[in-house]
Amino acid sequence: MIEFRDVNYAIGDKQILKHVSFRIPAGEPRIIVGHSGSGKSTILRLILGLACPTSGEIIIDGQNICGLEEKRLREIRRQIGMVFQDGALFDSMTVGENVGYYLLEHTEMKLDEIEDNVRQMLGFVGISDEYLDRLPDELSGGMQRRVAIGRALLSTNPKIMLYDEPTTGLDPQMTTNIISLINRLMEHRHVTSIIVTHQIADAFKIGDRFIFIDAGEVAFDGDVNGLRDSKDPRVVEFLGPFRKSIAHVHKIDFV
Ligand SMILES: Nc1ncnc2c1ncn2[C@@H]1O[C@H](COP(=O)(O)OP(=O)(O)O)[C@@H](O)[C@H]1O
Ligand SMILES: [Mg+2]
Repeated sequence: MIEFRDVNYAIGDKQILKHVSFRIPAGEPRIIVGHSGSGKSTILRLILGLACPTSGEIIIDGQNICGLEEKRLREIRRQIGMVFQDGALFDSMTVGENVGYYLLEHTEMKLDEIEDNVRQMLGFVGISDEYLDRLPDELSGGMQRRVAIGRALLSTNPKIMLYDEPTTGLDPQMTTNIISLINRLMEHRHVTSIIVTHQIADAFKIGDRFIFIDAGEVAFDGDVNGLRDSKDPRVVEFLGPFRKSIAHVHKIDFV
């Protein structure tokens, strides 16, 4: 479980997060939506323990992650897979090296065993073997993001997956591919998944539990019906014309 308890976070005199509280039970997905600059990526940074709140607590698996000794924090981080918006692959390493890097550096696994794992993982994320020896910039943006998801999975065997804007900048077909991959992961591996997006149309295809962050505050936390029926002017403004069509949006299933 991931819990924020009255988290405030400031950089200098700028208040970024204000009294943020929420709770995400283990194995459940949450979609964090909000305008650009509202504080969504900051929430992921705090979950990773890259910064500590000014006040309040962040509890992961019953432990306040701020103030933990470095060794324990590393153990918690090992359970968290993170996929950044740009994929953030090593551009001088092949696709196979990117995905197998962690196993090569941090385990005693033999090379052919690593290659088996890499092939299997690439299959899982829908990248065929012929791309194993290609460099990332020979792949489309959507494929790079799938490789990044595969790398995160093979590096951490995560209990928690964090996705920051996984579909931003992708065309509709690639967006559908990435969303079905995220859904497949949630259903097959029961990882707690937090998906951050400012693209409301994509949010509805991923799941139906939302946390809406507005100017550093939780303006909504609940399901799709609650979101549609909310009279909060911040929610109404954010949803815009989408509000009316919510009932007709269907989650993309995995194939
Ligand atoms: N290192 C920083 N110094 C100052 N302000 C920052 C820093 N990082 C983020 N911010 C500010 O914090 C706010 C929230 O940023 P962020 O969490 O990246 O928003 P989002 O991911 O929702 O677009 C923004 O106003 C941003 O300008
Ligand atoms: Mg962001």
